[in-house]
Amino acid sequence: MLSQLLLLPNSLLLCLIVQNLGHVLGDSPPYTDDSRFETGDYGAYPIQGFHSSKIIAPQLNLLSTHWSCDDGSYTMFNPRGNAVPEDAQSPTILDSKGNIVWAATGYNQTHNLMAQEYRGKQYLTFWSGKDAIGEHGNGEYIMLDSSYREVARIRAANGLEADLHECRFTDVGTALITIYDIQHVDLTQLGGNPNGYIWDSIFQEINIETGELVFQWRASDHFAATDSYRDRGGQGGRRDDPWDFFHINSVEKDQIGNYLISSRYTSTVSYINGETGEVIWVLGGRRNNFIDLSDGRATDFGYQHDARWHNNYTTISLFNNGAQAPKSAKNAQVSSAMKITIDTSNSTCMTAKLETQYINTFEMSSSSQGNMQVLPNGNTLVGYGYNAAFTEFASNGVALCETHFGATGRFHTGDVQSYRVMKFNWIGLPSTDPDIALVNGSLYVSWNGATEVRKWVLETGDRSDMVKDREGVRWRAFSKTKKSGFETRIEIPTDQGPYVRVVGVDGNGKSLGATRMIRVEKATIVIYHSHN
Ligand SMILES: *[C@@H]1O[C@H](CO)[C@@H](O)[C@H](O)[C@H]1NC(C)=O
Ligand SMILES: *[C@@H]1O[C@H](CO)[C@@H](O)[C@H](O)[C@H]1NC(C)=O
Ligand SMILES: *[C@@H]1O[C@H](CO)[C@@H](O)[C@H](O)[C@H]1NC(C)=O
Ligand SMILES: *[C@@H]1O[C@H](CO)[C@@H](O)[C@H](O)[C@H]1NC(C)=O
Repeated sequence: MLSQLLLLPNSLLLCLIVQNLGHVLGDSPPYTDDSRFETGDYGAYPIQGFHSSKIIAPQLNLLSTHWSCDDGSYTMFNPRGNAVPEDAQSPTILDSKGNIVWAATGYNQTHNLMAQEYRGKQYLTFWSGKDAIGEHGNGEYIMLDSSYREVARIRAANGLEADLHECRFTDVGTALITIYDIQHVDLTQLGGNPNGYIWDSIFQEINIETGELVFQWRASDHFAATDSYRDRGGQGGRRDDPWDFFHINSVEKDQIGNYLISSRYTSTVSYINGETGEVIWVLGGRRNNFIDLSDGRATDFGYQHDARWHNNYTTISLFNNGAQAPKSAKNAQVSSAMKITIDTSNSTCMTAKLETQYINTFEMSSSSQGNMQVLPNGNTLVGYGYNAAFTEFASNGVALCETHFGATGRFHTGDVQSYRVMKFNWIGLPSTDPDIALVNGSLYVSWNGATEVRKWVLETGDRSDMVKDREGVRWRAFSKTKKSGFETRIEIPTDQGPYVRVVGVDGNGKSLGATRMIRVEKATIVIYHSHN
């Protein structure tokens, strides 16, 4: 038997990985409106693995599709939950067909993957830290360049830790991050202790290059405990049991230097003076300053996430989690994304109007998390947070593309979640080599994170004496195979060799990288793997 094991320099024999993964290896396309997926017949979180890579990919169910959702951008999210294996809880990028493009390895408890621009270049950012601290997180943001090299960590100032909910780059080289911090307050008005404790909500603007604090805002300086809708439930009596009265979850800065923030537990979107921190106005909640031109439906959102400006700071979008908020709201039987147009030109008579509401055909109700992203082509992407679903809508609110990454039968359980799901343009040129595996006479090749490979060129080479590296071999292109999905299978010529390698080429035929070389023999039944 041993004579069949062709051990190459640094290569690793991975005969056992097939059994260990516990799921089928191969590059299967997403399911299409598959009812067995929804009932959980394939598991709460259907996944697949690959011969050439250790990453684990979600296998989606595409319930409906539309050509306009395929705009060449990439879906970015962080699958997590009780049913998601720990090594699959990674920052994850999918292409617009639902194939995996990249999954990070080696990070623990991540959220909020985005592609953001800094000084004219695109970077991936995501949060990493401890996320099991009362519905928020203590950690930092990691910044990767287009080759997936870590270039920076963005940390909170003043000895605090960055929360998972927000890290939004501005166009002046700063990042806006959310922070949770325990504060000592008087809770007597709420039947609590005069020596009460809250989770205070903070946001900071941080200089990305220097880490210096540019601005800090603290919710308890401007909002009272009585502004909250969150039942205190006996919390707040002790420092180790603080009451989360505000729960900040998004921050954005406008062209005149003021901030727009979303607070879940006050059900408010507030506009904050960028000099003084004063609250300029409040939309929604107990301190609403707006006349509602839509019979209450523009201001009765609750427990919402992800407030963003649009249309030259006249429209606000958000994800309304109101179905789970204690305040009864007539539009909140289900989760919706909303576009609300506001007019603040007369400060004694400001108005709000519900422009468009986005409800998917499943009328999903997500108690927590979620987001709404208006895309460059006018479509709107909504991530359902606590439920394993995202839907892309036309600008008028019609659901176009509905995707599940977990079974409907397991919704509302927390089994499969992603805080946000967003889409971005992205070019990934990994600094690693492509990965290759030889299985039962076929080659399998993939390249975690590579977005530009269009074809795989199989090269064969010979050399009479034993070679230590691919430099010693004369390579000839033997065949070209169109890259499809994440992993591409390539048949090995029987009369060539004995060495083969596979080169990834882009749309212009330019070589982007080559796998390690493999020595092939007929009837090879072992698996070589280029990972370590
Ligand atoms: C990941 O986080 C969990 C929970 O905090 C911890 O038990 C585990 O050791 C961490 N793993 C790594 C690789 O850091
Ligand atoms: C945006 O609104 C401001 C203030 O109303 C106005 O001065 C500016 O011209 C507008 N910009 C665009 C691009 O419409
Ligand atoms: C602003 O609104 C108030 C209240 O409706 C109204 O009395 C006032 O005339 C308005 N001012 C302007 C400049 O339109
Ligand atoms: C290789 O082929 C054998 C015989 O057809 C089969 O039993 C085995 O499952 C195959 N192994 C893999 C990893 O596909």
